[in-house]
Amino acid sequence: MINIELLEDVKRYFDNDYSGHDYFHTIRVMNIAVHIAEKERADITVTALAALLHDVDDYKLTGGETGDTFNAVALMEKYAYAEDIQRKVCEIIRSVSFKGKDTVIPASLEGKIVQDADRLDAIGAIGIARAFMYGGNHNRVMYDPDVPPVYNMTVEQYKSNKGTTINHFYEKLILLKDMMNTATAASIAEARHKILTDFLDEFHAEWDGKR
Ligand code: ADP
Ligand code: NI
Repeated sequence: MINIELLEDVKRYFDNDYSGHDYFHTIRVMNIAVHIAEKERADITVTALAALLHDVDDYKLTGGETGDTFNAVALMEKYAYAEDIQRKVCEIIRSVSFKGKDTVIPASLEGKIVQDADRLDAIGAIGIARAFMYGGNHNRVMYDPDVPPVYNMTVEQYKSNKGTTINHFYEKLILLKDMMNTATAASIAEARHKILTDFLDEFHAEWDGKR
């Protein structure tokens, strides 16, 4: 279904990335997406391939435009995936890459699953770790009580937002559990969401010297 050389090619796209868009993020998204696809009876090949390729054209890596699929297409051509699979995968990559309040829900079940899987990797213990990694990488302070969160950002505001990493939890991460498309992902999100809220409670208690 997904051959080992393709995995190695994808790994090369993420060499030297410390923004949270690393190869292991991609692999985690693929694994949880396949798990959800099995439960939701979706097409496993399309789901796995779209998950594996969902970030290879990300503007943060390529400097290109949101919605580009050049790298994904090149890889699928190299491994001779059928044209209808390529079309479905590109459609998914385009819809999953929209951010902020411009977010769109992918039309296909497989797309909904990849979006859910990507969002699941942004919450829970790994989501916390990724957020602080991203914050450090972007020279952001972890918290400043004088900088309020910004809600309902457009994609442009999202890209240029210079808030704190803790604000990112309020602006995005704690909203994700109610944005899951599939019942399977919604149930996985519950436990991961609690990790976030417990962490925020503890963070603020320690910040205020209460614990
Ligand atoms: P995706 O994996 O959907 O492409 P993003 O590109 O929005 O997600 O973010 C990648 C990772 O970096 C996620 O874990 C996300 O929470 C984190 N991240 C994005 N923006 C910020 C931010 N402003 N502060 C802290 N973490 C962020
Ligand atoms: Ni991603």
